Formats: sequence, structure tokens, C-alpha cells
Amino acid sequence: FISLFIALKIWRRERFQKQRSGQQLPGPPLLPLIGNLQDLRQQNLHIHLTKLAKRFGPIYRLRTWKQEIVVLNSVELIKEALVKGPSDLAGRPQTFIGNFISFGGKDLALGDYTSTWKIQKKLVHGVIQRSRNMALEPLVEREARKLCETFQSYVGMPVNTTRDFSMSTCNVISSLTFGTEYEKNDPELQDIHDCLVELVSLWGSPSISLLDMFPILQHFPNSAWKDFQKAVGKRDTFIRRQIERHKETFQKGKVRDTTDALMKYFWDQEEETAELGEVTEEHIHMAIVDLFVGGTETTSSTLSWAIALLIQRPDIQDRIYSEMCNLVGEDRYPTYAERRNLPLLSATIAEVLRLRPVVPLSLLHRATCDKSVAGYFVQKGTNVIINLFGAHQDECKWTDPAHFRPERFLESADGEQNLQSVISFGAGARTCLGEPVARVELFIFMAYLLKNFQFLPVKDVHHPALRTQPGILLKMNMSPIQMPAIALAALYLSALVSART
Ligand code: HEM
Repeated sequence: FISLFIALKIWRRERFQKQRSGQQLPGPPLLPLIGNLQDLRQQNLHIHLTKLAKRFGPIYRLRTWKQEIVVLNSVELIKEALVKGPSDLAGRPQTFIGNFISFGGKDLALGDYTSTWKIQKKLVHGVIQRSRNMALEPLVEREARKLCETFQSYVGMPVNTTRDFSMSTCNVISSLTFGTEYEKNDPELQDIHDCLVELVSLWGSPSISLLDMFPILQHFPNSAWKDFQKAVGKRDTFIRRQIERHKETFQKGKVRDTTDALMKYFWDQEEETAELGEVTEEHIHMAIVDLFVGGTETTSSTLSWAIALLIQRPDIQDRIYSEMCNLVGEDRYPTYAERRNLPLLSATIAEVLRLRPVVPLSLLHRATCDKSVAGYFVQKGTNVIINLFGAHQDECKWTDPAHFRPERFLESADGEQNLQSVISFGAGARTCLGEPVARVELFIFMAYLLKNFQFLPVKDVHHPALRTQPGILLKMNMSPIQMPAIALAALYLSALVSART
């Protein structure tokens, strides 16, 4: 009876959709009761969805008993859907865990598309832009210098660079946000870094995912849920302590860092606050959390992938080194403004972002209104997966897409256009807020590292880092139908570091 009821519901929805659009979205066959749940539960979801795109085309639908999900898999379609009518797909589905970790949906990354969210994003965007223009580059340069000193102590040894990258990017965000530049081994930095990593990894665990589908399970014994609550508490205590510290020392008209810049609207009575609308201190607290969570593992994973990929291409490492020496000589490093004069380094960064977009399925979007995408009708409330990984593997767009070939951006007149087709930071109203920060970090860190070192394969060590395997993929969201994921470079990435002389 239940199967019959669900089949009837699906049939009616399909008929409705047909009526509205004249065209029915393609997709894999639906199984009784579960629809396409088996597709959505795949461990390497981004790879699975990309395979489905080969069968069903750049736009298709998946369905669970509860809802329809539209999957977009090509650069053109993603840009069309997210940029034309930029708010149409800018919603986020609201979930139990999402609400739990964000004072009831006050998060920037997970919050739904509301007028308050728009003000919150505009505020943080403005502050990030200003800090990029003022403090960011010298800060990243200092951090890159420290990283090189650490790497110097590894010369001649096989190393795992993952934690070093992650601590460096965490420190950049900490300096930017709180004005606190930690030493590498500072316990406070290690503590907040490890807390955030734990939080993200617990978030992807099945015991936590299940709570999104059945929140009632929070009342049953669940050790992962207890650990998760503890980690959220620790995170909030750290952020609150920093905000309090800032409040005590805040001086009108003197903005020291991102926290001051965001909080001054609440603390400085003379500031114009009319623009703030419903934005509260909790929204700012969550925005700071987003900067930390969004800004640590993403950039550091991209750096790890870069090294993992460059180990296979020593010729590219050598050419980038020569390119830099020709431009700036032996004694100094290139600045971010000089990136256009370093085409191979820029192309290499673009190729790493293309081949390993660290948030391969973006964050789940939700249609805020009825919309037509590629002539298909997408109903308001439908969840939409933006398959960035799939778009970067599209054979109609990229020649030999599975291979690491920075040259592709330099070879033809299409090079510039190809650069525009790397969409690892998303597009439209939900585009990554930290993109300007990440781009400066990627460029400066790569320039410093490649100017000082060669990264060589360790003899007889297999490099699984080049495959995205189960275990490498860290699922950030909870239920199988909400699966934004961050593909982390293999934890066991190892390279032999050799100093350039
Ligand atoms: C969102 C990628 C670094 C902060 C996102 C999204 C992607 C992404 C794909 C989702 C876009 C969407 O929903 O359509 C990346 C990549 C990075 C990176 C590839 C590095 C290589 C950063 C950094 C920060 C940051 C450094 C902070 C300083 C955020 C925030 C959002 C976001 C706050 C939520 C935006 C929103 O929902 O409106 N990022 N990111 N990200 N990212 Fe990043």
C-alpha cells in the first residue's frame, strides 16, 4: 500500500512537472520506496554523479521518497543557473544539525537566502575585501617564510606536509580575524585547529548524519553526538573569548582586524547601524566561525593536492622556478600583483583547482522560486547539487580532463576562456566568500615553496593522493541527500623535499 501511495505521488509530481515544462528531466530509474537513494549514498558521490552525467547529460534528476534533487554537471549550465537570476538557486535546505551548530540558522554558509542573510554576507564581503587590500599579502608572506623554514628542516627526508599546510592557513585566518599571529606550536592554535577538524569530521559521520533524518535519535545514547556537542561548545567558547577580548580593548575609530570591523557596528554607538537590519552578534559570531572552517582545510588541501600533482611533474616545477627567477631574480619573491607575469605558475594553480576542486559538490543549493534551467522546469524548494568536479571533468569542454596538464591554459587562444571555466569557488550569490583570500594564499605559498624547494617522489612509495578514495573524502553534511563534501588530499601524502640552490 505504501509503495502504491509513493508511486502515485511520484507519478503526480512528474505529470505536474511535464505539464509545466513540456520536458521531463532525465535520470536513473527509480526503485520502489527509495527512489534513487542508492545513488545518493555512494561514498565517492562526486565521482558517481559525474558518471551519471555521462549517461544522462549535464542536467538530470535524482529522487528520494521525500524530494527531488536536480544535479548540474557542466560549466555552462552551472553559470547559467547561478549567475542569470543569481538568487533563484541561492537558498540552502535547513537541517537539524545545521540549525544546532548555528544558533538556529544564523550561519553564513548554511543560512537560507533571506534579507538578513544578504546583509550578513554583504557585511562580511566588504570586510574581507578591505583586509585583502590592506593586511593580507604581508601576512601570508610572513606565514610562507615560516613554512619555508619548517620545510628547510625536512630537506632530504620524506615528509607529510598536510598538517604544516593546515596550521599555516589556520594561522592566516586567525591573524586576519583576531589579529593573533601564533607561533607554529602554540597550544591555543593547535587546540582550535584540532577542534575544527574534529567538528568537520564528526559532522560527516553516519551517526550524526542520521540525526538529520531522525532528530528524535538525539535522545538516545550516541557517543558521536556527545562528542559533536562538546566540539561545538569548545568552538563557541574560543570564539566568544576572542570577541570578549576585542570588546574590552576596542577603541572607537581604530579597526585592528576582521572582528573589530564586524563588531564595531554593535560597539561603536556612533556607527551607522540602520543597515544592520536583523543581523545580531550571533550572526557575526557564526560568520567568524565560517571564516575559520571555510578558510583552513580548503586552502591547505588545495596546497597538498598541488604538491601531490607536481611530484609527478618535476619538469613543471623546474619551469616555474626558472619563470620566477627570470622575473624577479634570485633574491626576492614575486608579489601577487606580478602573477600575470608568471603564466605557468598561474596556470598550475588553475589546473590544481580544476582537477581537485576541494568542495567538489559545492554546498547544497535550494531553489527560492520556480525556475527554468536549460529548458527544464525546476520547482521552488527543489534541492540542487552543483557538481563542480563533474563540470571540470566534462569531455565536451576539456581535452583529456582527468590529467594534470597546466599547459592546457597556455596552449591556445582558448587559454583565457578556459581559466574562466574553472569554477571551484562556485558562482552567483553563493560564491565563496574567501576566494580573494584563498587566491592570494595559493599564489604566495606556491611561489615561496617552489622558489626554495623541489618536491620529489619518495622511492617505492605509492602515491594514493592522486586518487580521491573513500576516507580521503570528508563529508561535511549530514543526510545522504545533503552531501557537500570536501575532498582532502591524502593524509599520507609524502614528498621528498630537496632545497634549490
Ligand atoms: C563557500 C570553495 C576557501 C569561506 C564555498 C563554496 C565553495 C567554496 C565551492 C560553496 C559555493 C556555493 O555554495 O555555491 C572554496 C575553495 C577554497 C575556499 C576551493 C580554497 C581553495 C575559502 C576561504 C574562506 C572561505 C579561505 C574564508 C576565508 C567560505 C564561506 C562560504 C564558502 C564563508 C559560504 C558562502 C555562502 O554560502 O554564501 N567555498 N573555498 N572559503 N567559502 Fe570557500
